[in-house]
Amino acid sequence: MDLQDKTMLITGATGGIGLSTAAAVAGRGARVLVTGRNRDTAQAAVAQLKARSGNDRIDFLLADLSTQAGVRSLVQQVTTRTDRLDVLVNNAGLAAPTRQLTADGIESDFAVNVVTPFLLTQQLLLPLGRSQRARVVTSPEARTPSRSTWATCRRNDLSQD
Ligand SMILES: NC(=O)c1ccc[n+]([C@@H]2O[C@H](COP(=O)([O-])OP(=O)(O)OC[C@H]3O[C@@H](n4cnc5c(N)ncnc54)[C@H](OP(=O)(O)O)[C@@H]3O)[C@@H](O)[C@H]2O)c1
Repeated sequence: MDLQDKTMLITGATGGIGLSTAAAVAGRGARVLVTGRNRDTAQAAVAQLKARSGNDRIDFLLADLSTQAGVRSLVQQVTTRTDRLDVLVNNAGLAAPTRQLTADGIESDFAVNVVTPFLLTQQLLLPLGRSQRARVVTSPEARTPSRSTWATCRRNDLSQD
């Protein structure tokens, strides 16, 4: 499938599934915006993507998606580069080994895997709405609590592990 006329944003695309996804769509000619937290790693990933695909239309956007300020900054970077977004891949995600809170006071897995995809999608509805056939793909794993965890959890406390 030729993706020359598509613009895609893939979060967390400096490695793993995100990088493979970016390579696949870059190889089909899409304009690809990839995000990463570390400038050096991201620049290396973009150089690798360009060399492998022969596609120069690949940009790197620096974004820490653990905070709502990070999401807003990414939205600003996207909208200064493109009016229209055809595909948003919410790929950035994590499974932290220990409980950590983000700068917003939200448990980190929940913030990155659940809150960020929701906010990013919601804040990009305008450019997504300008695409004839916009698509949003969300992959971070939202872990299901075990029966014993569910039995003791505080249902009104979303920041609980
Ligand atoms: N692999 C699986 O079997 C599997 C199964 C189900 C769902 N998934 C989901 O698929 C997605 C990709 O999986 P993967 O195996 O490719 O994972 P991975 O190799 O660990 O890559 C995750 C990506 O998310 C980025 N990321 C993590 N925290 C971030 C943050 N606070 N801000 C911005 N970026 C952040 C990472 O960036 P850094 O390089 O900067 O850390 C990395 O690029 C994840 O969301 C995962 O939950 C994976």
